[in-house]
Amino acid sequence: MTSRYNAYSFIFALTTPLDGLLVFENNDVNACANCGSPMNLLTRVWRSSLGKKYLMAISGLVLLLFLVGHMVGNLLLFLGREDINRYAEFLHSTKEVLWTVRLVLLAMAFVHVLAGVSLWIENKSARPVAYENPDPVVASYASRTMLMSGLIVASFIIFHLLHYTVKVPAVNLTGADFGTLQETLRDGSQRADVHEMMLKGFSNPVVALFYVLGMGLLCLHLSHGASAMFQSLGARSDAYRAFFNMLALAVAVVFFLGFSAVPIAVLLRLVK
Ligand code: HEM
Repeated sequence: MTSRYNAYSFIFALTTPLDGLLVFENNDVNACANCGSPMNLLTRVWRSSLGKKYLMAISGLVLLLFLVGHMVGNLLLFLGREDINRYAEFLHSTKEVLWTVRLVLLAMAFVHVLAGVSLWIENKSARPVAYENPDPVVASYASRTMLMSGLIVASFIIFHLLHYTVKVPAVNLTGADFGTLQETLRDGSQRADVHEMMLKGFSNPVVALFYVLGMGLLCLHLSHGASAMFQSLGARSDAYRAFFNMLALAVAVVFFLGFSAVPIAVLLRLVK
């Protein structure tokens, strides 16, 4: 009986993720004459803490899906120059798609950071004096450092984009200009040599270790963020709390191993 009840509550939780948005904290549903317009809905979502948590969860989910694709793409380095360079060429082949994806990611990152900072400020003003002895069981280290780890990860991403996307020579600490690295194909045509760029980029131990550190912080952030996401989207009922916490930890560990494998392998000269 209990297990059947748990299964129902799990399905119910998964199928009603937007319920919370219909109940706003200031209970002003009836007072609003023009609530149906999209702009109004957005304002109301933003004004409610619950709405901001949904925005964080949905933007976090989109960024997480991007990370899955990006990690798998990076791991093509282990298959060789041909595979990773062909993959990079494919990603850059349709400018409209590339720029649409870039703009969606930028918007998601913007919403995620803005909602996170705004919720943190709300929490601070609701409880200006921190608990004297925060209970480490209730609040894990990852959950207590979400704002800090999130802002450091955001700074890492800015560095990463300057390093490998904009290819600013001054930040790669190798003296090379990554913008000029080209692979010449059999028919004489040329394409960007992402394989060589990664080998050169991570040949500097400071840069490689900085990436591993960045991935560590990203995964600390994800180990709590993914579980909070399940909760905000309605999937983490009390009965499944432990399961979703474990799932979030597993996701974080897989990302850490998958992303760190590249700089570590290059640094140890396991990829040539
Ligand atoms: C060790 C970890 C990582 C490695 C080795 C890596 C590698 C790369 C490389 C080589 C590129 C350039 C690809 C190209 O020019 O075709 C790139 C682009 C990018 N990376 Fe990463 N990345 C890592 C982690 C991350 C993380 C954690 C994020 C986000 C949270 C991220 C977000 C991006 C973005 C947004 C782009 C730009 C894609 C574009 O619009 O062209 N990367 N990465």
